[in-house]
Amino acid sequence: MQSDEPTAARPTTYIEAMPVRGRISRAQPKGLPIINLGYNELPYGPTPAVAAAIEATGHRVNSYGGPGCDGLRAALGKTYGLDPESLICGNGSEELLDVIGRSFARPGDEILISEFGYIQFQMVAHRAGADLVKAPETDFTTDVDGILSGVSDFTKVIFLANPNNPTGTVLPLSELQRLVDNLRANVVLVIDLAYGEFTGEDYCNAVHAMAQGHDNVIVTRTFSKAFGLAGLRVGWAQVPAWMLPGFYVTRGMGSVNNMAQNAAIAALEDIDLVRERVAEIVSERDRVALALRGMGVSATPSGSNFLMVTVDGQGPEVTEALVEYLFDEGGFVVNRTREAGLEHFMRFCLGTPEQNDQLLDCVQAFVGQTVV
Ligand SMILES: Cc1ncc(COP(=O)(O)O)c(C=O)c1O
Repeated sequence: MQSDEPTAARPTTYIEAMPVRGRISRAQPKGLPIINLGYNELPYGPTPAVAAAIEATGHRVNSYGGPGCDGLRAALGKTYGLDPESLICGNGSEELLDVIGRSFARPGDEILISEFGYIQFQMVAHRAGADLVKAPETDFTTDVDGILSGVSDFTKVIFLANPNNPTGTVLPLSELQRLVDNLRANVVLVIDLAYGEFTGEDYCNAVHAMAQGHDNVIVTRTFSKAFGLAGLRVGWAQVPAWMLPGFYVTRGMGSVNNMAQNAAIAALEDIDLVRERVAEIVSERDRVALALRGMGVSATPSGSNFLMVTVDGQGPEVTEALVEYLFDEGGFVVNRTREAGLEHFMRFCLGTPEQNDQLLDCVQAFVGQTVV
């Protein structure tokens, strides 16, 4: 579908503007430093090995990164016990999701996601010109029966983020297995584990094992979240071997730059520190959710590094006011969920313990003055 009536006066585009989430972009009124908790990033700087790799590669920016990301795939294979020949890397997992969409879907095809699925899945469908179909969720969580009954003769790809963004909810492994077992073999299932480390390494390993041997199941991962390399753009995926040659055609050559590849390899060398950081975020997630509950602000159960919360019994206008208050009084940028059915929620990622304390103080002050 074209976004404008055809006209001789200017070119037409197949791409329509899509609503993006509400993030505040005006100046902070009190001149406070901005604390951006709206992008689901990690609040820590590079680990020592990553910092050294960036420094060393800084002198070699004249070189492309190798298109096959061979060293990185080997390191990933070793770390996670996977065959490097089943892996592909991309410019963030976002690029790989797009590669999958462009490889398998065209106008007339359907891409199936769950009701509150990650917004990029919608964009992937739009770029491919495919129809987006949403399956109802239960308790803000993917419903396997809903997904299975959403599969039609036209379904080409199912995208499921686990944990999902923005809800943070996780499908239990048994349910995921039921989906894999009951899905038609000619539908691609993409399990997006961008936040998987915050659910647990056992969970991630089990999902990789589940995918093994299936010619239609892909698992995507990223260095942007648990590894804190969002700015360098490195994602990867475990892919059925037969799909890989086509994916390299779809992806493009210079996708993951040299510095990013070396930094990602170094991050895997520092995996113990990465695990410590993930453990801190998980413990902060539980602490903050509990403290908020005591203030009458409820969080959806989260397996990720973020929380989706609502002020109990209040509507979207109170959420809106809270989002503004956090920015005006604390310099916090959070993410206002505007999807139909999520209007009374906002989403923020966990920061350092100090930042989280400041956020809690700010929410407490807001609730004290606003909620009757
Ligand atoms: C569920 C989910 N998948 C994938 C991504 C893409 O991450 P990246 O492209 O940085 O790997 C994000 C980013 O926020 C996400 O929330």
